Amino acid sequence: MYTQAMDLMAKEGASAPTAKPVRSAQEMMLEQRFEARIDDGGFIEAKDWMPEHYRRTLLRQISQHAHSEIVGMLPEGNWITRAPTLKRKAILLAKVQDEGGHGLYLYAAAETLGQSRDQLLDALHSGKAKYSSIFNYPTLTWADIGVIGWLVDGAAIMNQVPLCRCSYAPYARAMIRICREESFHQRQGYDSLLVMMQHGTDAQREMVQDAVNRWWWPCLMMFGPPDGESVHSAQSMRWGIKRISNDDLRQKFVDATVEQAKVLGISLPDPELKWNAERGHYDFGAIDWDEFWRVVGGDGPCNRERLNARVKAWEDGAWVREAALAHQRKQQTQAQAA
Ligand SMILES: [Fe+2]
Ligand SMILES: [Fe+2]
Repeated sequence: MYTQAMDLMAKEGASAPTAKPVRSAQEMMLEQRFEARIDDGGFIEAKDWMPEHYRRTLLRQISQHAHSEIVGMLPEGNWITRAPTLKRKAILLAKVQDEGGHGLYLYAAAETLGQSRDQLLDALHSGKAKYSSIFNYPTLTWADIGVIGWLVDGAAIMNQVPLCRCSYAPYARAMIRICREESFHQRQGYDSLLVMMQHGTDAQREMVQDAVNRWWWPCLMMFGPPDGESVHSAQSMRWGIKRISNDDLRQKFVDATVEQAKVLGISLPDPELKWNAERGHYDFGAIDWDEFWRVVGGDGPCNRERLNARVKAWEDGAWVREAALAHQRKQQTQAQAA
């Protein structure tokens, strides 16, 4: 089995991995160097030695993130042909295209950890890999598109800004670029809702409120299970992959969003939501974690539809991939002949 340690030892001319005591001493030294760099707040590059567990943790996280970007194109892509004006259609097209780009940066970052694009996509299509459960909810009206920008991209920003300082440098670099675009996504959603709330009809205002009512709780679930139940959290915090806990990020999101909801003139669907002067934060009601685990487990409103759409896109695009490879082979042959 390939490991980063074996690769590095081969380059440095160290003894073969069969010489077990030597190898473990070597590995201990490499691990100490790795830990020291993490403790100093340094970055790990693709070619640096890393513990296998660190590599696998990042591969899981970055590939899930990449899958979320491209599955996230589906609920909004569904509304491109029905956007109410040319301006909104152009904005939505650009946004959905950005999400495709985010997927590409992240697949490229995941590939640096030793898995091919085909392997990563195969894990998505076979249902082995997860993506963010928020995209298993349907987009029923045009207001859902504004609410996705405001709340879903807003929650994504809260989650993703700390990743710009993630200890794995290729991931951190991808996130810096992604976060800039996410802030445009959040603003376009909020702007679209503001126009409907301030200049729209009663029916449009009701449509916005209804969309907020449906998306609010699933958005709070986007930060993941409570800290006490989050399996990978503690190790990821130690490794500098994760910088802020699930519950702290969720609280930050609630605090920021309540104020934005006031400006919009909509209410958030939680009777227990109120300012707590002692804590300096908003208190909020209990999240239905049974629903969260049901959707993660595959039984959300749109899980099957989303996966089928991805598999169909992959199959329909086979000829494009084959043509690109044939073109590349032709170019190589011509270059060799010249
Ligand atoms: Fe994105
Ligand atoms: Fe986005």
